[in-house]
Amino acid sequence: MFDPRSIPADHSTIEALRSRGLEYRQVDAADEAAMQAWVQAETRGFHHARPEPAELSRELRIAKQRSVRGVYDSTAHDAAVPVATVDGWPSGLSVPGGRSVDAWAVSAVTVSPTHRRRGIARALLEAQLRYASEAGAALAMLTLTEATIYGRYGFGPAASAATIKVDRRRVHWIGPDAPGRVQFVEPADLIAKAPAIARRAVARTPGEIDRWPGLLERHLGLVDPDSAASRALRVARYDDRSGQAQGFIAYTVGREPNQPGVVECDVFVAATDEAERALWHFLVELDFVTEIRARLRSVDEPLPWLLEDPRATSMHDVVDHLWLRVLDPIVALTAREYGASGTLTLEVADPLGHAAGTYVLDASGDGHAEVRRTDDAEGRADAVAAGSRSGRRSRGQTAHGLRLDVRELGAIYLGGVRPSVLARAGRIEELSPGSLALADRLFAAPRTPHLSIWF
Ligand SMILES: CC(C)(COP(=O)(O)OP(=O)(O)OC[C@H]1O[C@@H](n2cnc3c(N)ncnc32)[C@H](O)[C@@H]1OP(=O)(O)O)[C@@H](O)C(=O)NCCC(=O)NCCS
Repeated sequence: MFDPRSIPADHSTIEALRSRGLEYRQVDAADEAAMQAWVQAETRGFHHARPEPAELSRELRIAKQRSVRGVYDSTAHDAAVPVATVDGWPSGLSVPGGRSVDAWAVSAVTVSPTHRRRGIARALLEAQLRYASEAGAALAMLTLTEATIYGRYGFGPAASAATIKVDRRRVHWIGPDAPGRVQFVEPADLIAKAPAIARRAVARTPGEIDRWPGLLERHLGLVDPDSAASRALRVARYDDRSGQAQGFIAYTVGREPNQPGVVECDVFVAATDEAERALWHFLVELDFVTEIRARLRSVDEPLPWLLEDPRATSMHDVVDHLWLRVLDPIVALTAREYGASGTLTLEVADPLGHAAGTYVLDASGDGHAEVRRTDDAEGRADAVAAGSRSGRRSRGQTAHGLRLDVRELGAIYLGGVRPSVLARAGRIEELSPGSLALADRLFAAPRTPHLSIWF
């Protein structure tokens, strides 16, 4: 398996930061003290409390699997603690059609307030994109705290998430009863089965990414099982009619003495539609509660359609959760399936260079597409002259094409927003009549993209 730590720190980043009196380096996974200092800097950067020992050792185990970089200031009070952090690792990203494309996850981007706005984040991000390309990733991806930072590096918002609230008193279930069974399980008993269930849930949902080792343990409260937060977690699993585990939820109920509670569900994993319905059914019919809140859910949940009163549910805090940055348009665009057949030219601008070029996407009726580059190295496009693989376009028929920035390519990639909406916002240019209508049909995804975790 590819080791993300094998990518050496690149010269240009080292030099760019050295010229500002800073040292940029990979943190040695075997150097426990350096790793701990890095984790402490990262948690401080996100304004989190210092991690408990169990959480710290878990963070260290995870960081050791990744390419962990820090920026150091030898003149600082504690020069062993980095003034900036970032990590990255290769990860699959599910795309429409059920395939997984090789991507590069970026996380832990922090710059100490003492060193802000000196171009450190820019240096780190641009380096991450180079590492991602070096690792063979077709895209880079991240979740973020502020939506104003990453567009400049070519990221676009590709999948949304929302908090779903349910007014328990208005719940009357009209959906089908699941043929299987929901039952409480102890987290320690579920952990053996959880990765396989999560893998199948990820595979069926465009926008979900591979779960890394240690994540599910955290979701199930197993990192520090004796902590108050872990003891409050309740876990339920859905087994289908044949007894196969197909989904699970983890939730807590907060309540005042003698008052009904409020359910908080942050972990909802369903490998089938049946499991999804069964777990919702279980959650929304919990007695002695007034409200159910489920975070990071899809903006396209079936829940309102399962209740007699759809207004028992409401959607809050809709956010642009997953951001994508296309690095290799040919690999990225070939990986996903398309909702129509047709030939579309994409003239992609990319100020950082990675994805710039003119590409012809030629989708056949079976959902698959061939993608090829048609401009030369200097970017001279021969887009309109580019013919379709199948030769479907007859003489005199207009070639369809769009002109867009790599950010917009990331945004439309999973089908989370229609190209025509971005054209209405003046962010995509239609090169010939009918191109947007074709692009809308091509990029439509059978399932709304969704990412249900932070990374
Ligand atoms: C966000 C953060 C990493 C920026 O670090 P930085 O080193 O100050 O950023 P840079 O000096 O490299 O600035 C890079 C660019 O982003 C812009 N920028 C930086 N922070 C910004 C913010 N919060 N909002 C809007 N723009 C921002 C800068 O203006 C600059 O733009 P330009 O290069 O086009 O002129 C830093 O403020 C931080 O650690 N914040 C807390 C943790 C966090 O939010 N991390 C992001 C995780 S998703």
